[in-house]
Amino acid sequence: MDATQETYNYKVVKQFAVMTVVWGIVGMFVGVFIALQFVFPDMTHGIPWLSFGRLRPLHTNAVIFAFGGCGLFATSYYVVQRTCQVRLFSDKLAAFTFWGWQAVIVLAVITLPLGITTSKEYAELEWPIDILIALVWIAYAIVFFGTIAKRKVPHIYVANWFFGAFILAVALLHIVNSAALPATFLKSYSAYAGVQDAMIQWWYGHNAVGFFLTAGFLGMMYYFVPKQAQRPVYSYRLSVVHFWALIFVYMWAGPHHLHYTALPDWTQSVGMLFSLILLAPSWGGMINGIMTLSGAWHKLRTDPILKFLIVSLSFYGMSTFEGPMMSIKTVNALSHYTDWTIGHVHSGALGWVGFITIGSLYYLIPRMYGRTEMWSTKLITLHFWIATIGIVLYIAAMWISGVTQGLMWRAVNDDGTLTYTFVESTKASMPFYAIRVLGGLMYLAGMFLMLYNLIKTAAIGERVDARIPPVEAHAHA
Ligand code: HEM
Ligand code: HEM
Repeated sequence: MDATQETYNYKVVKQFAVMTVVWGIVGMFVGVFIALQFVFPDMTHGIPWLSFGRLRPLHTNAVIFAFGGCGLFATSYYVVQRTCQVRLFSDKLAAFTFWGWQAVIVLAVITLPLGITTSKEYAELEWPIDILIALVWIAYAIVFFGTIAKRKVPHIYVANWFFGAFILAVALLHIVNSAALPATFLKSYSAYAGVQDAMIQWWYGHNAVGFFLTAGFLGMMYYFVPKQAQRPVYSYRLSVVHFWALIFVYMWAGPHHLHYTALPDWTQSVGMLFSLILLAPSWGGMINGIMTLSGAWHKLRTDPILKFLIVSLSFYGMSTFEGPMMSIKTVNALSHYTDWTIGHVHSGALGWVGFITIGSLYYLIPRMYGRTEMWSTKLITLHFWIATIGIVLYIAAMWISGVTQGLMWRAVNDDGTLTYTFVESTKASMPFYAIRVLGGLMYLAGMFLMLYNLIKTAAIGERVDARIPPVEAHAHA
């Protein structure tokens, strides 16, 4: 290798990619554990740090920020280098984002089971950890946008637009929503009070869905679907419309999490309206991804990575249809507080976020080990089927359980008394909680297959040729 030729920084990509799989297993294991607690409520014998209330936020933080977060770091660092055809802006800062992010996760794993929490959902970590998150995120922004600034290709590929929006929006959301007055080293009070606090929290919460769980993963879609299908993206024009429409509309939808609360009624209606509008850009994006396969549909039959990517887009379409429906106030009156919400969350989380990440990593990981394919394609196919059946079991169980709960809670007798006690509705949900455990176990088993395949791929790996090709010879990376 010509020592003077510039190379890509694959080290940090590889580190994040491996940790995505590791944290995926940890987070989903905790998911299965808390799912089991619904079936055997006394299984942890009252040990406080194993209680549902403490492990649930550990699950959400581990799957969203550790699994999803590492996946986003890995893919965005890979994509921005390949499409700009330059090395990352700063190796040192990139390494800081890796170690800093792992430190955040380890601190979450320690503090959440100890009950140290701000009690704001998806923003539970206390203020010293929040400051570390902000620092890592600023470093991330410098590395990412710095790389874009020194690009050798004039054009900025659309995947980078989505990654960039995700990075900027998450910085804004995190810094505004985490504003707090520290009382002690491990306890703080929100800078906002009462209904404003709730409003800001769900502006944050919904945009965490929109930018963390959606925009970044759309960045993955726009790079890895065309790559794996070996076709250009279906419509570049649609991707630009998709981008601006999505970014603009998401910001206003948060109040749909606070229907029928003390929030002013008009804000709830605005939230509902923007949620309904959101269906259009979401489906525009999904169609753009799926139609990228036009003319290459036959590849779906044999290529399990494409199966992951395309099924993920189907789940994206499904959950972005379901979400707007649930944001209609009268529908929300039935769905809110029930397992329906949990079903919706996991069709997005397991189906969309999980599958797009898994599919992208199956493309990316072998390339980090100097190969074009994973050690075993058969294992990828097995992973795909076992995980797909797992999702279907999980979400179908939660839908049935949720609608049953909603209907039982609102049923009234002629004399106006409630038809069912709460405990009767809980009993009705029990079989579905058992089915969810089975579905979750299958999804988790798939992750173990992925880890095994990753270890085997690493074992037969070769030295990676990370040299950056001359721009003219390589217009599209
Ligand atoms: C093996 C896979 C998984 C299992 C068994 C599982 C199980 C669970 C359980 C039992 C809950 C608590 C539900 C409740 O409070 O009623 C939960 C909540 C949640 N999970 Fe998972 N989960 C899994 C994977 C994931 C993944 C991959 C993600 C995200 C990428 C995710 C995101 C969430 C979120 C956001 C919540 C909170 C939902 C809400 O507050 O409405 N989960 N999960
Ligand atoms: C057009 C897109 C979407 C809309 C309009 C939407 C709307 C909604 C609504 C109305 C709720 C129920 C709020 C409640 O009753 O408390 C909800 C909950 C949720 N959705 Fe979506 N959704 C969309 C897409 C997605 C996607 C793609 C994901 C995940 C990847 C997702 C993740 C969540 C989560 C995590 C919650 C639970 C929040 C909580 O209470 O903790 N949503 N969504």
